[in-house]
Amino acid sequence: MNMRHLRIMILIAVGWLLGPGPVGAAPLTWQAIYQKHDANPGETNVVFTFHLTNSSALEDVLITAVRPSCGCTTAKMPPLPWRLAPGAAGEIETTVDIRGKRGLVNKVVTVESSAGTNLLTLVINIPEGRARNMDLALADRQAVFRGECATCHVQPTVGQTGVALYQAACGICHESDHRATMVPNLAALNKPTGRDYWDGWVRKGKVGSLMPAFAQSEGGPLDENQIKSLADYLAGHFPSTASASATP
Ligand code: HEC
Ligand code: HEC
Repeated sequence: MNMRHLRIMILIAVGWLLGPGPVGAAPLTWQAIYQKHDANPGETNVVFTFHLTNSSALEDVLITAVRPSCGCTTAKMPPLPWRLAPGAAGEIETTVDIRGKRGLVNKVVTVESSAGTNLLTLVINIPEGRARNMDLALADRQAVFRGECATCHVQPTVGQTGVALYQAACGICHESDHRATMVPNLAALNKPTGRDYWDGWVRKGKVGSLMPAFAQSEGGPLDENQIKSLADYLAGHFPSTASASATP
């Protein structure tokens, strides 16, 4: 071996010790750090499982934080801090709640560990159902109670009364952050209301609008007991706000 070779070998050894060489590289390897899913109609939760391995032969990896980018995404893994011995593998199961979302939805889960920061990317393609839903409802406002629509608009109401029924039957439209502009805020109606007012709207809705009729006599899903409990709840919790209110 001549001096030139020796010098090169020393340079390689120094580089190896100082990193970032192969050994200094992050030891956490991910099977698929970017995952995509095409949602089916009616699907409400999408689960992605991320597989990780500590590929270092020497060091433990300590996972200190796992942070989803929004409240609609949750992550399941062993309790933190989570220590992965050399060679050990594990998984992080993430779930995205896609109710009320559509189009291309992009979520990020940030994983912080002794090996650095990794970003897990979750992409969900949700069919643009809304325009179609609106068209169907404009043609027939009772369409929400039938077929595939019923999985969200009826099934959650079955057997419910009072506040739970309000949330399932009415809140789905009236309390949604993404609701269409023609859906009013029931807590801010500037008109006299009362038990009869609520009872009437629940039973009959409004012909020529997207507000359906919930009474069974009108082709709706709610029985008499449910309508009564709903009118009681609404009269008690959405007091008449109008200055013009004549309600004693
Ligand atoms: C996966 C659950 C789900 C299904 C299935 C569903 N909806 Fe909805 N719908 C919602 C949610 C959530 C809202 C509240 C607005 C939002 O968040 O997009 C809503 C709102 C509406 C509205 C109020 C207007 C608006 O967009 O705000 C109408 C009308 C409607 N849906 C009709 C329908 C019809 C008709 C069908 C079936 C063809 C249907 N929906 C199927 C969840 C669903
Ligand atoms: C499919 C979506 C949808 C659902 C479900 C729904 N609503 Fe509505 N609601 C509407 C729309 C749209 C309007 C506006 C109607 C119009 O054009 O005047 C409306 C209007 C109303 C109004 C009239 C408010 C005013 O301006 O005086 C009341 C009251 C009401 N809804 C109560 C309810 C109650 C109670 C429930 C549950 C039993 C419910 N809604 C469920 C869409 C919905």
